[in-house]
Amino acid sequence: MKRNTSQIMSKKTSRVTLRKALRALRNELPESEQQHAAFAVRDNLLSLPDITNASSIACYLPNDGEVDLRPFMHACWKLNNASALHTSLPVLHPVCKGHLLFLRYTEKTPMRVNKYNIEEPILACSDVIPTFHHQVILMPLVGFDASGNRLGMGGGYYDRTLASIQAQIIKPKLIGIAHDCQQVDQLPVQHWDIPVNAIVTPTQQLSFNRT
Ligand SMILES: Nc1ncnc2c1ncn2[C@@H]1O[C@H](COP(=O)(O)OP(=O)(O)O)[C@@H](O)[C@H]1O
Ligand SMILES: [Mg+2]
Repeated sequence: MKRNTSQIMSKKTSRVTLRKALRALRNELPESEQQHAAFAVRDNLLSLPDITNASSIACYLPNDGEVDLRPFMHACWKLNNASALHTSLPVLHPVCKGHLLFLRYTEKTPMRVNKYNIEEPILACSDVIPTFHHQVILMPLVGFDASGNRLGMGGGYYDRTLASIQAQIIKPKLIGIAHDCQQVDQLPVQHWDIPVNAIVTPTQQLSFNRT
């Protein structure tokens, strides 16, 4: 029988236990479902005005069963022929440990593999897009709830990187990308966790009012 999140979760389930269970769920998805998810999420994203009006969107490359954003990025590059829409990818910050930088990403970007075995653009200062220059940041996540709380892989990279821009009046829209099986009733949150403005899954587009 397929496991679901109510079977893995009680009120006191720790973040460590939740991460493990939710990562297992998404890694168990068959390849056909992963492919379907990638195209469904692409289509859902392309229906959002926040996306079609953006000029810089931070994406990510799939790891550990995450929804694959490559079909979405290809669609952005086609749109980019007509408008100025740039995609970027996160890079582990070479100086500020635990933080991310975002670098412009195109089909021609030279890549390298980082310490987590994830491909990232080779660092070139001219390709850096400052975090606050993005209109949208698409964030991978391990778990989410109906209030827009986000559980990541446990490194806190997005929390640290986004903490410094929280006080800005105009800041990027944070959109969590997930499989439906990553939703839980209520995540245990910590004061440093940065919640998202919206969640997009293959079947849902949730948005949350935040100041
Ligand atoms: N703004 C921040 N400044 C310093 N440390 C942070 C910040 N945000 C998160 N961290 C640290 O990162 C670690 C992982 O954060 P956590 O929220 O559990 O990971 P994730 O968001 O990847 O699920 C925690 O130990 C936390 O103390
Ligand atoms: Mg966090």
